Amino acid sequence: MKYQWYPGHMAKARRAMEDSIRLVDVVIEIADARCPASSRNPDIDRMAEGKGRIIILNKADLADPKVTESWTAFFQAQNIACMSADARRRVNVRNLSSLIEKVCREKKERLRAKGMNANHIRAMIAGIPNVGKSTWINSLSGRASAKTGNKPGVTRGSQWISVGNTFDLLDTPGILWPGMDQENVGRNLALTGSMRDEVINIEELALELITFLLDQYPGVLAARYGINEEKTESAERDDMIMRPGTNANAIRCMEEISTRRAFIKKGGGIDYDRTARAVLDDFRSGRTGRISLEKPEAAERSGDEQ
Ligand code: G4P
Repeated sequence: MKYQWYPGHMAKARRAMEDSIRLVDVVIEIADARCPASSRNPDIDRMAEGKGRIIILNKADLADPKVTESWTAFFQAQNIACMSADARRRVNVRNLSSLIEKVCREKKERLRAKGMNANHIRAMIAGIPNVGKSTWINSLSGRASAKTGNKPGVTRGSQWISVGNTFDLLDTPGILWPGMDQENVGRNLALTGSMRDEVINIEELALELITFLLDQYPGVLAARYGINEEKTESAERDDMIMRPGTNANAIRCMEEISTRRAFIKKGGGIDYDRTARAVLDDFRSGRTGRISLEKPEAAERSGDEQ
């Protein structure tokens, strides 16, 4: 399936991002723990050159904890401070201050040596839409809702939020757009809800998810829906006559989910749309389990190829 990112706005977003970055010492990049490579924009490395860097693997409550651990180690090995968090439940949110302390230790010491106030480390939050930037800003500011929205170019007249005695945070996040050229980025962003469902073929996306789960997380669909995951003889046969890339067993599993949940159309027949939405909704809300869509090994491989 082909996925498309929101057209337009990118140049404006880039300019706004570059304007904001100039004002800060540290860039805190929020990524989705379920797909840290897909939910980042590699351009940030260039834009934030010379600045302190932190990556937060947010929504870690939805991701596979072992895989999140290996992502944290992966970024740390690249000298980027990294932590995982669940901003919705404020898990690990307080640890950001000590990470900022660590990242800015040298700068703070320099300021103190000059007799200057070292508490004024300035930071900004950045990331692609839906990774949890506003939730983070709200958590850190203690406010119910941040002046945000995914509108590029809202940094003019920006204000600073004082976070404890550690740092000042820009109250509007930098909006990044995903780098769509790597494998599976579109699929992963569509699955994690960073792409509007209206521009996606929901049934195909659900089939891609089922195919992935059957392969990478065997047993989770059986546990969630009480279906049989084993490839049946007829699915085996169908695979041979269907177009390449189509997974007959995934279709069969989807049909079984539909029957189990009684998602049947009025006149009879499988309600694929309703089943697909239920499967995606269960995944996105974590009801299917804690699942990661990509592992650092794949990011390493694609890095080698460049
Ligand atoms: P953005 O500014 O980067 O676009 O993201 P935002 O904070 O608006 O968060 C997008 C969605 O992700 C929100 O859900 C938010 O509650 C949820 N979220 C943020 N951080 C976490 C986290 O660590 N774990 C989980 N599970 N969810 C998180 P929503 O359904 O769009 O809104 P709401 O119903 O929660 O208000």
